[in-house]
Amino acid sequence: MDGNGRWAQARKERRTQGHLEGLKAAKRIVKAASDMGIRYLTLYVFSTENWKRTAEEVGFIMGLVKQYLRAELAFYRENHIRLRHAGDMAGLPPQIAGELTEVCNVTREWGGLQVILALNYGGRDEIIRAVNRAARAGIEPQTITEETIAAFLDNPDVPDPDLIIRSAGEFRISNFLLWEGAYAEYYVSPVLWPDWTEQELRLALEDYQKRERKFGGITR
Ligand code: IPE
Ligand code: MG
Repeated sequence: MDGNGRWAQARKERRTQGHLEGLKAAKRIVKAASDMGIRYLTLYVFSTENWKRTAEEVGFIMGLVKQYLRAELAFYRENHIRLRHAGDMAGLPPQIAGELTEVCNVTREWGGLQVILALNYGGRDEIIRAVNRAARAGIEPQTITEETIAAFLDNPDVPDPDLIIRSAGEFRISNFLLWEGAYAEYYVSPVLWPDWTEQELRLALEDYQKRERKFGGITR
């Protein structure tokens, strides 16, 4: 979800205003994905690198997350949406971590769209934590396979993404789902995240439907 800052800058507003509008866009896209019957949606909310931003901006984003988690519970219930987390929980402010754990627990049994909030998330960090968990579980190094690593990732039961979408026109992975995205299709939209509507999601999915996925093989 990129482009909040540029959206605000174009309007001579503060970056925080961009994040506020970005939150509204996230709600629109979650609702649209749920209505379309999409099973899993991972939102890259805050990366392990985003701590480099000013204390004001970091504080504002964390405040939004906390507010959103709490305020949207009725919406999740209505739409059977399950919330999950990807990222390093230990590095989050205790209040956010507590709120996140609570909402994940409350929605655990809900069978609709699963929304995975990548919060304090980095692809490299996730792989490192997976390897550490495997070591602590007593896995013998010489027995490690792809399946071993995959089993120790943050959400081992969530399938690899089919499509990774980036808003605001940047052609970068930015440390997102490095392991899981190995065979994902990528889609970059020039539209800044706060301007995203259901229509942008539809365009991305239409583009995806034209792709031919080979997973390293050849087409017959
Ligand atoms: C993405 O928008 C939002 C977060 C990282 C939380 P940016 O804040 O990166 O927006 P730009 O890139 O400055 O436009
Ligand atoms: Mg950015």
